[in-house]
Amino acid sequence: MSTKAALVLAAGKGTRMHSDRPKVLQTVLGEPMLAFVLAALEPEFGEDVFIVAGHRHELVEQAVPHGRFVLQQEQLGTGHALREAMPALRAAGAESVLVVNGDAPLVTAKVIKDFVAQAQKADLAFATINLDNPGAYGRVVRQDGHIAGIVEAKDYDEAKHGVSTGEVNAGLYLVRMDLAERLLPRVGNANRSGEYYITDLVALALEDGASVKGIVCGNDESLLGVNSPLELAGAERILQERINRALLESGVILHSPETVRISPFASIEPGAEITGPCEVTGRTCIGSGARIFANCVIRDARIDGGCEIRPFTHVEQAHVGRGALVGPYSRLRPGAHIDVDAHVGNFVELKKSHLGPGAKANHLSYLGDAEIGAGANIGAGTITCNYDGKNKFKTAIGAHAFIGSNTALVAPVSVGDNATIGAGSTITKDVPEGELAVARQKQRNLGKYLKK
Ligand code: UD1
Ligand code: CA
Repeated sequence: MSTKAALVLAAGKGTRMHSDRPKVLQTVLGEPMLAFVLAALEPEFGEDVFIVAGHRHELVEQAVPHGRFVLQQEQLGTGHALREAMPALRAAGAESVLVVNGDAPLVTAKVIKDFVAQAQKADLAFATINLDNPGAYGRVVRQDGHIAGIVEAKDYDEAKHGVSTGEVNAGLYLVRMDLAERLLPRVGNANRSGEYYITDLVALALEDGASVKGIVCGNDESLLGVNSPLELAGAERILQERINRALLESGVILHSPETVRISPFASIEPGAEITGPCEVTGRTCIGSGARIFANCVIRDARIDGGCEIRPFTHVEQAHVGRGALVGPYSRLRPGAHIDVDAHVGNFVELKKSHLGPGAKANHLSYLGDAEIGAGANIGAGTITCNYDGKNKFKTAIGAHAFIGSNTALVAPVSVGDNATIGAGSTITKDVPEGELAVARQKQRNLGKYLKK
């Protein structure tokens, strides 16, 4: 077997999840299960990975923008899913296909590589694992130690098949295309579920005289399937432990690691420090010496070394530079860039805005679509009014400008370098460099006011 492709089965609804969302999009540490399976296949299969989608396929397609999809319009079972994918696999020139369930988020590139290496010589190979309680998994049936077939849990009859040894089908197969082509039309649906089972290929292949290999993976957790909320939580716990252990061993400091949830796609340098409870998801990068305090939620962000993200701060698709201080209670939305040594304090929200080096916005502000120069001071309660109900406009604030408290900057507007705005101003016109602008009613003191 040389030219091989991979096929991920991801068309099922996942009835046992009691959710509208396709099961493979349920998340583990912030990432859809399908993403883990695809990441594990990438090193071995590169571009030659196909995904069978069906139930709410448009959502699955959205989640994998560059995926190669096959549609299984009606979900008639895993064997039917493979059958529907055969034309695409054939067109890709595959001589053999690795099929994997899309609900196996713990699978790793190493598991795939080792399986493929061991499966090479067989016409059909599948991975088996051993469970204390075989539950809903397909039971592996052997005769004199040799594989005889896989019998699905619902169809398993102890009187006929004997007491299960606990060896079950893991949902990972490698099969020669010519064999699959020959056998798939013979897979029927006369079983308890009325579905076409991919697992029936095993007995059919044996009947056909093909070489069938069960690759024993023992109690490897990497191939556990996720069918219910309980199993999802179990997988998440295993993965969390795996990731946090690797990070601790590499030199990342984690306080209360059991409460720190870090995506496998995040990259955290040794010497970074994170206190739980805390969530770091997506492709977040955290540099050495950065400190993330408790109750922060960080997604797809870049946090440079030596900065502090203080408690209860949310950061999404934003960049925090070296030496910056953010929080407590700050919110950095997509496109926020907090430059080196800048400060962002409590109840300050930034969106698509650059806070220049050493600039400060310490209290109660909204800064949207703003370019703020180095060393500027944004007073408490400053708002950039960037939206007129239809369009967004930009605000520019020069270096070392001083914006008095409770200022509204009605965009588009600019404030020059070293300019000062008096507190409580509503600024609608540009303020030149170095000038003082005050835009509020003059105070009138109206003499003594006597209460009756
Ligand atoms: C399947 C195996 C079982 C094995 C277990 C391992 C079959 C018949 N059974 O059972 O032997 O022990 O996995 O976890 O294969 N799917 C489709 N199209 C369909 C039906 C399912 O793409 O028509 C996809 C699902 O989205 C899922 C995968 O196939 O990702 C497996 O389906 P699932 O219903 O979870 O099978 P299990 O009952 O777990
Ligand atoms: Ca499953």
